[in-house]
Amino acid sequence: MKLHGTMRINSQSHLEIGGCDCTELAKDFGTPLYIMDEQLIRENCRGFVRAFSRCYPSIEIVYAGKAFLTTAMAKIIESEGLSLDVVSGGELYTAYSAGFPMDRVYFHGNNKTPEEINMALEYGVGCIVVDNPSELEMLDNTASSMGVRQKVLVRVSPGVAANTHQYIQTGQLDSKFGFPLYRDGAFRAVKRVLASKALAFEGLHCHIGSQITDVSAFCTAAENMLGFAARIRTELEAPVNVLNLGGGFGIYYTKEDRRMLPEDFSEPITSSVKEALARYNLAAPKLMVEPGRYIVGDAGTTLYKVGSVKDIPEVRKYVFVDGGMADNPRPALYHARYRATIANRMEKAEGEKITLAGKCCESGDILLRDIILPEIKSGDLIAVFSTGAYNYSMASNYNRLPKPAVVLVSDGKADLIVKRESYQDVIRNDIIPERLKK
Ligand code: LLP
Repeated sequence: MKLHGTMRINSQSHLEIGGCDCTELAKDFGTPLYIMDEQLIRENCRGFVRAFSRCYPSIEIVYAGKAFLTTAMAKIIESEGLSLDVVSGGELYTAYSAGFPMDRVYFHGNNKTPEEINMALEYGVGCIVVDNPSELEMLDNTASSMGVRQKVLVRVSPGVAANTHQYIQTGQLDSKFGFPLYRDGAFRAVKRVLASKALAFEGLHCHIGSQITDVSAFCTAAENMLGFAARIRTELEAPVNVLNLGGGFGIYYTKEDRRMLPEDFSEPITSSVKEALARYNLAAPKLMVEPGRYIVGDAGTTLYKVGSVKDIPEVRKYVFVDGGMADNPRPALYHARYRATIANRMEKAEGEKITLAGKCCESGDILLRDIILPEIKSGDLIAVFSTGAYNYSMASNYNRLPKPAVVLVSDGKADLIVKRESYQDVIRNDIIPERLKK
């Protein structure tokens, strides 16, 4: 088992992350537990900044908060000098509460409510990424009535179908996101922004999907977007000062995935951008990318405790853990695959094939199917790797399971950054109407 980030095996054969022994973390904070490796998050941020700034004159890395956002995470992103992509009032409020600089916030979303738009304008977010015609009208009216001139990017669906799970493809024509290039949808949107006194046209945005390792899809999107920028310059005489190519940078989960370095993305993407700029004789816009998963995915580990083990001879051996699809819905939603280990017994031993299942009342609640691990006993601790992105952020209270705690580890220190929910938390918004109280 190849370990990554600050992981190591200590003298007691326990898994250690950020200098913290996982068995101690389980004792101190309970299980299931999300463990975030601070140093690796920071390295991932720096790796992205370095890789893109090495090959392009003007870049901005925008962290996509939907992958994992808490107030402490906003602090880390701020200190690394990244900007932040938010997609809802809740994410915006998290950033605001953490004191994140609002001028570095990009507000996305295909159905921003009037309240969210008001909130964004009142907080003074740096940029709003407009997604569709009715939102554009609403934003123009609200900004005018507040006397604000709001910077905007126009989100375009660039007509690229990335090779990934269809639920996380976004750049194709039939998408709920963005203005299509098709039949001038995006062209009319840019024209409309340019005609507005309350909106300042900064440039274009696209996002083609998530967990993408085939870089050619990003390159095609960049070329299409710059072809469109050339048309805007010629027909509308407006410069495109910003080209934001979105996120979607794939990470290594299992041996079915390619291991991608930030350079594996930055070099081909910026080459395509430069070629297209030369072809269309365009001035270089500021280039932005919005990695979410790449920043936090491999920095997260989920620790579970094994409860019952059920062997159906010649069929399957199930090992049950104290979490499941409520803390990680990705296997059930996207057939996502993970790697796992026994965190309290990292010594090499003969393996057996098991299926790691969660405790939710649903047959689809399987975390890892058919993995080889040394024989597992009740009470063992299982660490599932690379759960930092879209696990905590997509967690639910299904079966009224309280959401796990999140702990940030670094240099032998473990800081709680999200408390474990209690049973009181689970019922905190429940109300019994008077008539049912008798
Ligand atoms: N920018 C925009 C506009 C996005 O919609 C997204 C992700 C990102 C950036 C960041 O993408 P990333 O670098 O993290 O791939 N829940 C799914 C992933 C959904 C992604 C949604 N948008 C999953 O668990 O795989």
